[in-house]
Amino acid sequence: MRDLPAPLPTTVVRRNAPAPPSRPADVDWNTSNKFLNGPFAPWHEETESFDLPVIGKLPDDLAGALFRVANNPRFEPLDTDRYHWWEGDGGVAGTYIRDGKASFRMKWVNTDSMKVEVEAGEALYSGFVNGSGKARRDLPQGAPPAKSVANTNVGLFADHLLVYFEGGLPHSMHPESLDTQGTYDFGGAVDILCTAHYKIDTATGNMLFYAAVGPSLTWYEADPTGTVVDTFSFDMGCPAMVHDYIVSEHLAIFLISPNQFRLDRIMEGRPGVLWDETAVPGGSRFAVLDRRTHEVTWYDTGLMLAPTHFFNAHETPTGIVVDLHVIARLGNPADDSDEPLDSHSWFPPAMAWRFVLDSATKTTTQQMHSGIAGEFPKINDAWLGKKNRFGYFTTTRNLSPLTMTDGLARHDFSTGQTIVLEGPDGLTSPSEPVFVQRRGATEENDGYLLTIWWNPATGLSELLVHEASAFVREPLARIKLPVRVPFAFHGSWAEAEVLDAAVAAQSA
Ligand SMILES: [Fe+2]
Repeated sequence: MRDLPAPLPTTVVRRNAPAPPSRPADVDWNTSNKFLNGPFAPWHEETESFDLPVIGKLPDDLAGALFRVANNPRFEPLDTDRYHWWEGDGGVAGTYIRDGKASFRMKWVNTDSMKVEVEAGEALYSGFVNGSGKARRDLPQGAPPAKSVANTNVGLFADHLLVYFEGGLPHSMHPESLDTQGTYDFGGAVDILCTAHYKIDTATGNMLFYAAVGPSLTWYEADPTGTVVDTFSFDMGCPAMVHDYIVSEHLAIFLISPNQFRLDRIMEGRPGVLWDETAVPGGSRFAVLDRRTHEVTWYDTGLMLAPTHFFNAHETPTGIVVDLHVIARLGNPADDSDEPLDSHSWFPPAMAWRFVLDSATKTTTQQMHSGIAGEFPKINDAWLGKKNRFGYFTTTRNLSPLTMTDGLARHDFSTGQTIVLEGPDGLTSPSEPVFVQRRGATEENDGYLLTIWWNPATGLSELLVHEASAFVREPLARIKLPVRVPFAFHGSWAEAEVLDAAVAAQSA
C-alpha cells in the first residue's frame, strides 16, 4: 500500500515514494514485431519518481512541464504480428522541471474502451492498420464499437490537459496527477472527433483545429476558455486522411492526398489506412481556407504525394509558402492484398520540401530543401504563420530494423544547411523535438530543444535538453527517466505559470 502525501503542484522534491524499478518492466509477448520491441516496447507500470538524476545542468530559467504521449499497449495484442505502432494505448509522460530539478509521472489515458479491456483483463479490440486477420473478439454489451487509443498529442488548453486522437474526442487529464477525467467536447460544440494537430494563434491564443469525417472537413476556432467562436464545413472531394495541416496569418492550409482512413474496411477486419490514387486523379491538392471569409481556394500540385507533418507557412504578395515533410505514398495500396506490409514499405522515409502556392495560376512549384530523410518537423511556435528561419526534426536516415528515428536535425531555411546531431553515448530513437523559447527571448532560435531518447544500454529513456542556438551534440542536461517512454508521436511544453494556473483551476 502506497502512502503518499497529497500531490503538490509540479513538485520535484522526493517524498516517500517507492524507488523506481531499476530495470524496465519488460513483458515477453514472444514476438519479433518491431513495434513491440526496442524503443517501442511497452512499459507496464504507471510510474512516478522525484528528483531525478541529471547529467549536466538544467537551465535555471527552464520551468514547466514537458508532456508527451506514449504508445503503450496495455494488453498483449490479439495478433502480435499485425500489431502496429499507431494502435498503442495512449499514455502521457509528464516531466516536471523547475529550480534545476525534475520529476516524472506516466499514466495511461483511461478511455471507455480501455476500461472495457481492463475489466476483461485482456485485449478485446482488433487493430485498424493491418486489419484483424483471424483475431476478432465479440465486445461486451455497451462497449464502445471502436477503440479510442488516445495516443497522438497532448497539451494544455483552457486549464485542461487534453490528449488527442483523430478518431475521437480528446480526453482531459489532471495536469499533475494525470488522472483521466473523461472526454472534452468544447462545451458540446464538437461532436465526433477532432484533429490531434491543433494550432494556437499567436495573436489571440485561440485554438485553430478541424474535424475530417468522410469527405467533409469542419473547421473550428475556440477561444482560450474553450468556447468555439467560429466553425465552417467544406467538401474535400474524397474521404482523405488529413492528419496535419498548417496556418499562416489569415489562412488554414490542408493538403488533400490519396491517403485515406477507411472505417468501413476496418469494420470488415481489413487494413484501414489506404493509398488510393483514383481518389485524387489530378494529384494531391492544397485546399486553402481563408479564416476571415470562409472562402476555399484550391491549388493543384499535379503530384501524387502526402504530407506527414508541417513546419510552417507564410503569406507573400503573390501566394503562400508552405514548408513540410512529404512522403511518396503511405499505407496499404487500395488495389493490393490485405496482407501487412513491412514498416518501411508502409511508411517510406519522408523528405522536407518547400511548396510555393501561386495565387495567379492556382498551381504550385516545389523544391526539396533538405536531403536528410526525417519526420516530426517543429519550429519555435512564436513564429507560427510568419516567415521563419529555423526548422527542427528527427532524422530517419538509416532505415533501422529497430528504430524509426536516429538523429536530431536543424535546418536553416536561409542557407539551405541541415545539421544533424547523433545521440551522445549511443542514445538513439529521439522523439519529436519540442522547442521551448527562453524567457524574454526575441531571437527565433533563442531557446531549448527537448527530446526523449532511448538508451539501448539501459532500456530506459532520457530527456535531453539542447541549446537551440548552439546546436551541438552534447546537451546541456540529460534527465535520467525512471522508465522507457515507448516511442510515440507528439507532445508539448507548458510554462510553469500556465501549468500552475491549470492545477489551481482544477482544484477550485
Ligand atoms: Fe502527427
